[in-house]
Amino acid sequence: MIIAGNWKMNPSLALAGQLANALTVRSFEPVTRILFAPHPYLVPISVRLGGSDVRLGGQDCHQDLSGAHTGDVSAAMLRDCGASVVLLGHSERRANHGETSALIAAKAAQALAHDLDVMICLGETLDERRAGLAEQIVIDQLHASLPTNLPDGDDSLHGRVMIAYEPVWAIGTGEVASVDDIAAMHQAIASELPKSQNGHKAPLPILYGGSVNADNAKAIFAIDHVGGALVGGASLDATAFDSICELAVLQMSKS
Ligand code: PGA
Repeated sequence: MIIAGNWKMNPSLALAGQLANALTVRSFEPVTRILFAPHPYLVPISVRLGGSDVRLGGQDCHQDLSGAHTGDVSAAMLRDCGASVVLLGHSERRANHGETSALIAAKAAQALAHDLDVMICLGETLDERRAGLAEQIVIDQLHASLPTNLPDGDDSLHGRVMIAYEPVWAIGTGEVASVDDIAAMHQAIASELPKSQNGHKAPLPILYGGSVNADNAKAIFAIDHVGGALVGGASLDATAFDSICELAVLQMSKS
């Protein structure tokens, strides 16, 4: 299981330091923890996380190698600042920055080429769900957001790409999709994922995101094809985040 914290544009540098210190107190192995920190904090946070098993990630990167892109950050820069993973296609970037799935696929290809693993977010809006289009929208996003020009052929996806299903209406709202809806969507995504060429590698992990907290995580983790959680608000509370990681450890010990 993978538990990823997404701080978004929230903590001060002082609070970020405290939260990072709290992450180093203990390990939650075999659960993998990832922290998506604001770009200006990557270097100081990577120093604080040094020696711990927490992976550090950026919240976005540009699709080009380098160049005249004022305000943007390249995959190589993230790598140089201590990140080993990048979050791409979060619904806040799709909605607020007009990011299309094709752009996200280009960013993912650039990130993979620079030794960054990627977590690609998918999710439908409330209107799309009400119109009965949720599954179609998410599966279309999945196919269009996965990079096509991978450096090492199809097998390079496995182990390097994670999917996060986040219904847009559940993000930051306190509303969580029902167990049945999560199960149906994760099953649909799992059945659409590219297969590895030799068939031996693990399928891509599919995380759930949207108002995950210490109270609802247990039920979410018990759902088939849920490989962890992408946690926004609750990742700003060290105790809540630890509790979610603890529940993931518990789930792993059962399966
Ligand atoms: P939330 O955010 O947990 O605050 O709903 C999740 C996310 O946007 O990644």
